[in-house]
Amino acid sequence: MASDHVVIFDTTLRDGEQSPGASMNLEEKLRIASVLEGMGVDVIEAGFPIASEGDFAAVNEIAKVVKNSTICGLARATHMDIDRAAEALKPAERKRIHTFLSTSPLHMKYKLQMEPDAVHAAVIDSVTYARKFTDDVEWSPEDGSRTEHDFLCRCVESAIKAGARTINIPDTVGYAVPEEFAALIKMLFNRVPNIDQAIISVHCHNDLGLAVANSLAALKVGARQVECTINGLGERAGNAAMEEILMALRTRSDAMPFSSTVKTEDIMKASRLVSAITGFAVQPNKAIVGKNAFAHESGIHQDGVLKNAETYEIMTPESVGLTQSTLVMGKHSGRHAFKEKLIGLGYELGDNAIQDAFKRFKDLADLKKDVFDEDIIALVDDEVVVRANDRIKLVSMEILCGTEHRPPKAEMALNVDGAVNTCKATGDGPVDAAFNCVKQLFPHHANLQLYQVHAVTEGTDAQAEVTVRLEEDGKTVNGSGAETDTMVASVKAYLNALNKLLVKREKTDPSALSV
Ligand code: KIV
Ligand code: ZN
Repeated sequence: MASDHVVIFDTTLRDGEQSPGASMNLEEKLRIASVLEGMGVDVIEAGFPIASEGDFAAVNEIAKVVKNSTICGLARATHMDIDRAAEALKPAERKRIHTFLSTSPLHMKYKLQMEPDAVHAAVIDSVTYARKFTDDVEWSPEDGSRTEHDFLCRCVESAIKAGARTINIPDTVGYAVPEEFAALIKMLFNRVPNIDQAIISVHCHNDLGLAVANSLAALKVGARQVECTINGLGERAGNAAMEEILMALRTRSDAMPFSSTVKTEDIMKASRLVSAITGFAVQPNKAIVGKNAFAHESGIHQDGVLKNAETYEIMTPESVGLTQSTLVMGKHSGRHAFKEKLIGLGYELGDNAIQDAFKRFKDLADLKKDVFDEDIIALVDDEVVVRANDRIKLVSMEILCGTEHRPPKAEMALNVDGAVNTCKATGDGPVDAAFNCVKQLFPHHANLQLYQVHAVTEGTDAQAEVTVRLEEDGKTVNGSGAETDTMVASVKAYLNALNKLLVKREKTDPSALSV
C-alpha cells in the first residue's frame, strides 16, 4: 500500500448507531454495509458484538456478505468481548478486531477504577488475545487526546509489540483543537520507537465542530487511517463526517496530497440512505450533502455560475453523485424514465424495489400533477425504511375533524403480530386522536419527544414527511413516514418508531457496556 494511501474506516454502524435515536435493524444495516462496500470503503466497523444479540447478528451477517471491505467488530479489553467479536467475524473474508481501553487519568480513576499499571497490562493482554483470532488487530486508547503523553507512548508501544497493526487515537470527547491534535500525533511518531510497524489512525468526535479539521490535521503529520461516519452521525455531536473528509481530500489535493480509493460519486446515495434509515434529516446547509450545498440563491452568484461554474463552485455536484436533470416526471412518465431518474438521483435499486417504488410513484402522480425530485427522494427513502419485519402494521385509518367534529375522532385497524384489531379514539386534534388509537391497540409507555412535519415540496398537494421520536427507559428512536396524507404519514412514522423501539428493547442496558 502506498504511503500516501488513507484508509477510510467507516463506523456509521457502530459509533453512528450510538447516536440517541439512530437505531437500525439488521436489513437496514446490511443495506448500508452494501453501499459502503460499493463505495470502496476500506474498513466497515459493523458493530459491537457483545452489546446485544442484534449487534452480534449484524456483524455476523455483514461478515458473510461483504467481500471487498474489511469487517471490524469492537471489543472491550476482556476475553469475553474479544471472543464474541471473533465469533461474529468468523465468516468474514477480511476481519479486524478493534479493542479499546481508556487511558486518560480521568477515565482510569473514575470509570475503570484501575491503576495505570493494571491498564497497561490489560492492553497487552487484550491485544495479544485478539491476535489469536486475526492478524488484523486495532487498538484504541479511549480518551486518547486527554491521556498523559508518557503513559500514551508506553501503551502504544506495548500494543504494537503485542501485535496491533493499527493504533487509533480517539478524541473521544471532541476536546482537541487541530494544532494540538496534530502535535499529539507528531509526538507519537517522534517518541514511540516501533511506531513504523503500525498504521496510525484517528477517531475524532465533533463536540466543538472540529472533528474533520482535527482528522485532516492528523493526516498532515502522518496518520493514515480516518475513522468517520456518513453524515457525521455518532455519539453526542457525532463523528467526523466521511463525505467532508473525502471531498476535502479530493478538492484540496494540493494541500493534502493523499490518495483514497473511495468513490466520492456515491456520497449522496450513502447520505440519503443513512438519513432515510435513521430518520435523521440532513440540515440544508450541511457541507457536501445538505440540500443547499450546491444551490445558489443570490442573483450575483447565479450569474457567475452560469458564466463559469468555478466562480462559486469549488467542486462539481457530479463529484458527489448529484446529476443535473431536466426530466420532468408526471403521471405519463414510464418505467424507463423513472429508472433513469432514480439513477440520476443516485439510487441503485434492485428490480423489486424499483417495481414497488414505480407503483408508489404512479399513485403519487395521480394525486400530484408535477412530481419533483424531492418527491421521488421522499418516496424512495420511505421505501428504504424496512417495514417488512414490523410487528405493528397499519391496516386502515379514518379521521374526522373540523368545526363540526369536536373532538376529532380517529378510527383505526392495526395488525399486531398477525392479529388485526380495530378501535376508535378521540383527541385534542386529529394527530392526537390517531396516536391515541395506536396507544389503545398497542399499549406502551413510550414518551413522544418529537413530532415534526416537513412538506417535501411547495404547494398544498405536497407530500408530508413526518418524523416521530419516542423515548422509553432512556432509549430513543426516530421513526419516519412520507405520504400526501399528513395523517397517514404521521401514523406511519409513529408505528415505525414503535417497531424500532421493540427491536431496541432487546438491546443490552448501556450501563452493562461500560468497561
Ligand atoms: O470515541 C471513542 O473513543 C470510541 C472508541 C471505542 C474508539 O468510539
Ligand atoms: Zn467514538
